[in-house]
Amino acid sequence: MSELLRISDLKVHYPIRSGFFNRVTDHVLAVDGVDFIIEKGKTYGLVGESGSGKSTTGKAIVGLEKTTAGEIIYNGHDVTKPSVRKKIDYNKDVQMIFQDSMSSLNPKKRIIDVIAEPIRNFERLSDQEEKQKVKKLLDIVGMPDDALYKYPHEFSGGQRQRIGVARAVATNPKLIIADEPVSALDLSVQAQVLNFMKRIQEEFGLSYLFISHDLGVVKHMCDNIAIMYKGRFVEIGSREDIYNNPQHIYTKRLLSAIPRIDVPNRDKHMEVRRQVELEYQEKQSSHYDSNGRVFDLSNISDTHQVALKNGGEA
Ligand SMILES: Nc1ncnc2c1ncn2[C@@H]1O[C@H](COP(=O)(O)OP(=O)(O)OP(=O)(O)O)[C@@H](O)[C@H]1O
Ligand SMILES: [Mg+2]
Repeated sequence: MSELLRISDLKVHYPIRSGFFNRVTDHVLAVDGVDFIIEKGKTYGLVGESGSGKSTTGKAIVGLEKTTAGEIIYNGHDVTKPSVRKKIDYNKDVQMIFQDSMSSLNPKKRIIDVIAEPIRNFERLSDQEEKQKVKKLLDIVGMPDDALYKYPHEFSGGQRQRIGVARAVATNPKLIIADEPVSALDLSVQAQVLNFMKRIQEEFGLSYLFISHDLGVVKHMCDNIAIMYKGRFVEIGSREDIYNNPQHIYTKRLLSAIPRIDVPNRDKHMEVRRQVELEYQEKQSSHYDSNGRVFDLSNISDTHQVALKNGGEA
């Protein structure tokens, strides 16, 4: 095992202000104690419903969100501190791709400048060298050279996501956090972009943290998957653990929600879905503690952890 990044007891709490004096009256526990390890060259999925804390986790890792508690260890350094991130060029090694490339790519900049921007922060290249490098990056994501001098609005959503991928790999990073990178795209285009990402991973040997609300999308990408609910992990395991042997009712619920095109078995799928939903509603209280908080994780195998009451004992 070759560890790249380790997250321990990470918490991000946002203050809620209210009243006449605008005092902090409460906190949103967006991320409330998560642990995981990212290994070199592997792909991880972070899956959960809207508001479960996925983006906040991703942003905390790249340093876009301040952490409330916990550690993020990269090459032996705790990168929750901005000064440490700067000292070890962390922002070169860890990049993020966002769902909505229309707002994340600067509309006033030409593609050559969009892609070269992160390079300029870390390397001194001549104009000619820089142009060569950006051309190569465009080529890697299957875009023609004449894209260089165009603007983001001149491309389709799928092309823009590919440009986002080219920009993210420009600094030759070790880890890319991809926050719903294909959610806004048509199914056929989703597959294309995912294939490029897969190929780039093989070429550069990088790790991905892939954020999605849909267990169907990450299935073919991820080696390991964490299922997130209300800022905590309800289950974490290998792809096989999660898809073939899900333990937490919330995981089962996400699995039953994967859209299927299997027409002959449609009635059967609907029945499974109904059963899971019924079990979920009926046994709410036994899946979460009295405050609705997810239990601590316990091991059920070397690769598989689940958050069950009393560690799963009856
Ligand atoms: N800047 C902020 N200030 C206050 N609360 C925030 C802030 N950003 C996020 N939150 C809250 O933190 C929680 C987690 O948000 P987050 O964006 O991480 O969810 P998510 O899992 O990425 O959801 P989605 O699938 O909709 O993108 C939500 O309840 C959200 O309202
Ligand atoms: Mg999000």
